[in-house]
Amino acid sequence: MAPIGIPELKAIVGMFARSAAASVSKVSYERRQRRAGNPRAESEVKGPKTKEAHMAEKKLNNLFLDTLKDIYFAERQILKNLPKMAKAARSPELKNAFLKHRDQTEQHVERLQEVFELVGKRAQAKTCEAIKGILEEGEEIMDEYGASEALDAGLLAAAQAVEHYEMSRYGTLKTWAGQLGMKEAVGILDETLQEEKETDALLSSLAQSAVNREAA
Ligand SMILES: [Fe+2]
Ligand SMILES: [Fe+2]
Repeated sequence: MAPIGIPELKAIVGMFARSAAASVSKVSYERRQRRAGNPRAESEVKGPKTKEAHMAEKKLNNLFLDTLKDIYFAERQILKNLPKMAKAARSPELKNAFLKHRDQTEQHVERLQEVFELVGKRAQAKTCEAIKGILEEGEEIMDEYGASEALDAGLLAAAQAVEHYEMSRYGTLKTWAGQLGMKEAVGILDETLQEEKETDALLSSLAQSAVNREAA
């Protein structure tokens, strides 16, 4: 085989140079198009991703609204239930705790209405079987332990189950509101979340003090 001469070498180098220039100019063409905001170039580069992100946001929006309706139902049921629990409670501290939380719950309902307004939807409740079950258990305790010293311990346990349900819902809603960029809703949901946590802590301290000693 004959050795490669200078003209052949020049031809090979030229071929590589043209191919490299072609890929560089393709890349800079796309960059220029993107910088100019050309939608076609944009969709060529990240079309499917944008569509997926849009779909994910839409699904999260729906989940957010559904969960908002769920806790709206729950809060309104709790609002009806708390006076019954206050009436049944034997210890004055527990009675007061229930009455104070009834007033806070009224605010929780109003705050949820504000969040519905923020998302441009009518405030609407969606039946929540979970809270119905938790509240029914509380009613059973009132029926079964109405005359017993252990009643307050039972009421405390039932009320804490309610608070834990609310804390889980508000925690989730707050996180989703953040992911959806709804800053104002995050603040409103957090206000209620903090009150639920404080109530839970108060119930815990009551459970550890007089109420449980009486039951024993
Ligand atoms: Fe609440
Ligand atoms: Fe609560």
